[in-house]
Amino acid sequence: MCGIVGYVGKQKASAIILEGLKRLEYRGYDSAGVCVLQGGKLDVAKKAGRVENLVKEVTKHHLTGTTGIGHTRWATHGGVTDANAHPHVSSDGKFALIHNGVIENYSQIKGFLLSKGYTFQSETDTEVLCNLIAYHYAKEPVEGSRSPHGNGQGNGGAIATSRFLESVRKTLRHVEGTYGIAVLCVDYPAELVAARKASPLLLGVGDGEYIIASDASALISRTQNVVYLKDGELVHLTKTGFTITTLDQEDVSPVVDKITWSIKDAEIGTYAHFMEKEIFEQPLALENSMRGRFSEDGSTANFGGLNLTASELRQIDRFMFCACGTAWHACLVTEHLIERFARLPVEVDYASEFRYRNSPLDRNTLFFVMSQSGETIDTLAALREAQRKGYRVLAINNVVGSTIAREANGGIYQHVGPEIGVASTKAFTSQLLLGAMLALYIARLRDMSFSDGVIYVKALKGAPDLVRDALKQAPHIQAIAKRFAHHTDFLFLGRLSLFPLALEGALKLKEISYIHAEGYPAAEMKHGPIALISEKCPSVFFAPKGEIFNKVVSSMQEIKARKGPVIAIITEGCELPPGLADEVITIPDCHEAVLPIVAAVPVQLLSYYIAVERGCDVDKPRNLAKSVTVE
Ligand code: F6R
Repeated sequence: MCGIVGYVGKQKASAIILEGLKRLEYRGYDSAGVCVLQGGKLDVAKKAGRVENLVKEVTKHHLTGTTGIGHTRWATHGGVTDANAHPHVSSDGKFALIHNGVIENYSQIKGFLLSKGYTFQSETDTEVLCNLIAYHYAKEPVEGSRSPHGNGQGNGGAIATSRFLESVRKTLRHVEGTYGIAVLCVDYPAELVAARKASPLLLGVGDGEYIIASDASALISRTQNVVYLKDGELVHLTKTGFTITTLDQEDVSPVVDKITWSIKDAEIGTYAHFMEKEIFEQPLALENSMRGRFSEDGSTANFGGLNLTASELRQIDRFMFCACGTAWHACLVTEHLIERFARLPVEVDYASEFRYRNSPLDRNTLFFVMSQSGETIDTLAALREAQRKGYRVLAINNVVGSTIAREANGGIYQHVGPEIGVASTKAFTSQLLLGAMLALYIARLRDMSFSDGVIYVKALKGAPDLVRDALKQAPHIQAIAKRFAHHTDFLFLGRLSLFPLALEGALKLKEISYIHAEGYPAAEMKHGPIALISEKCPSVFFAPKGEIFNKVVSSMQEIKARKGPVIAIITEGCELPPGLADEVITIPDCHEAVLPIVAAVPVQLLSYYIAVERGCDVDKPRNLAKSVTVE
């Protein structure tokens, strides 16, 4: 939520910042703004709406400076207006600031600042922060100095501690809430101070230039060398170096990591939308997620990153999974598979509920969080709460270096590359795969036989090809989407491991098509939702081959008897009574552990094509943002 980017170097800052903002736009697209330091002044251009509006606005300014900041907003405090767009400038005109997060005690601070004569142009919490820096700066006596050390990069570069840096540090000590910020000061024309608490921020170390950004996509075109900032750290950039210090003024030795993906992975290529690209990328994403993770004898999975020995895992007698949204659906499927194959109880909770629920946890519980971004604030809070209670927390996560990845006690990286479409697709199927592999790993430590393990592994290895097959249904699903796109209510119904897929299908449709949809266990439908059924409300059924096939068919009959249109997703070899389904989508028949992965494809495609048919902005659905870093 909200994307921030800042540049200090030799190039025209506005061009690099605008490019970064385009890549960060998935984090929020209510407004965008840029500020460049030039001629001893802060030149701000900002506009409600998308980055493309800002690009037009910027052409009216002559932004040639080489130090600047930019922001793309997901509104929290204050409506979507030009005035509330970031950057905000302090009332004395000395500071410009961009912010991702929420300042919880902003009204007290605002009251204090008003009493001191500061004025405000916006309704945001961010402007308060900016003015508080100005207040501390005005009070800060003399320029302190610290001896230079290092080699010009990373706690070197002969940077003297400054009034600028200290006023930001002092301000942040008074702040409650979350922030990723970047600040410019007119008195320091080639410098930038940035800091973070709970909101993501990384520093790109380029060739004679530094870029700070909310995520790597905004800087990857200029450098692959990054420093992931930790909570409570401030980075001070100049043209020749940077220092990292803590809120307590301690020096931090930076660790420079290399990003393993490239700009090409974050580009849309020939696809119309990132969501489409990511749906079709799933076979490759699954291959990347499973690569090197099966044992040599082909009977189990290997996860080095769990940091747990087999005998430690044997002590575990219960699992707890916490996540949000689509990742929570992946946890529900994982629950089903662990219980089914490893015969151990699993509890799944919404991270946002867990953190306040104070639920009793058993001593031998192993705690997992799942998060594509690794920055979802509720999931992070659940992780911290579990760690506070003394639990070891493992994470299934896609973004290397994300806060959750760094704070977890171990985990499994998804390795699916950047997911840019706001609606999660390839990250979801990768989470399903890794959940299935985890179930196998635990099951093989317990009662699953070698030969059953071999069958399971073979099935998982076949998942990418099965997904390729399922994707061939795209033209057929597109035609179904055209037929049903005008409906305003949908039910998604499935049982057992496909009940979470019904939830996921409904969520996908809601979020990108703005169609009301509900996911239900197929048999539960008659306990209430059946009242919604009429010719105006289609039901999408998962009806795979197996023991419950006939039961699901009975549920379809009940819908049909009430004139409800039926879209049936069946597996190869299944036969439905003639005339029962209005549309049938056939997916490959497969192992139970792989079925949810393959079944995800038709509902992803259905919601995608319906959204396109309705003219919706698929990659930037209204009110949403990719990485939910506010509570
Ligand atoms: C829906 C979607 C969201 C996310 C949720 C958690 O398509 O993408 O529901 O799944 O916000 O995000 P992560 O996995 O980044 O923690």
